[in-house]
Amino acid sequence: MITEIIIFLIIIYFAKTIYTEFLASGNPFSSSNQQEESIIEGKFTPKTLYKYNGKDHPKIFMAVKSRVYDVSQGSQFYGPGGPYENFAGRDASRGLALNSFDPAVLTPLDEPIDDLKDLKELEKESLESWDEHFENRYKIVGTLHENGTVNEEIKGL
Ligand code: HEM
Repeated sequence: MITEIIIFLIIIYFAKTIYTEFLASGNPFSSSNQQEESIIEGKFTPKTLYKYNGKDHPKIFMAVKSRVYDVSQGSQFYGPGGPYENFAGRDASRGLALNSFDPAVLTPLDEPIDDLKDLKELEKESLESWDEHFENRYKIVGTLHENGTVNEEIKGL
């Protein structure tokens, strides 16, 4: 009898583990809802983007070359305690160009958006390949604006 109870408990334990992993990986029934929720077309300023830093809001957004990506699926990277959490809710362009996750590299929220004009050729290439990475992996939910406009020069870097 005790053996049966132990076997039963082991089965319950594995079933629970598999179910939890299934939910975490985005099961087919819930993923369509998640996708719909993540499409929030919008205009962001550095300050309004900052709300989506994974601490003040469950969604995590991040800007790369004036485009805002929903990186919530990468919360293991950008969520609180993640290796790249300093990019969450921020314009990460310079950090990606310099391959640095040092928060001091990013432009303070109350300063003008970084125009990235001083980047060296290799840094521009690094930024470009990161931009492709984000384009392939995450949804664009908006653009980063200053005084109501997007800096087209940054977009075209
Ligand atoms: C200490 C050296 C580093 C190690 C060992 C490391 C390791 C990793 C690993 C294992 C991944 C996951 C790759 C994947 O599953 O697709 C990753 C992704 C990434 N790393 Fe690093 N990394 C390092 C340094 C950096 C630095 C300095 C930056 C700063 C720009 C950086 C930015 C990123 C970004 C943005 C991602 C992509 C996450 C995503 O797809 O959303 N890493 N890194």
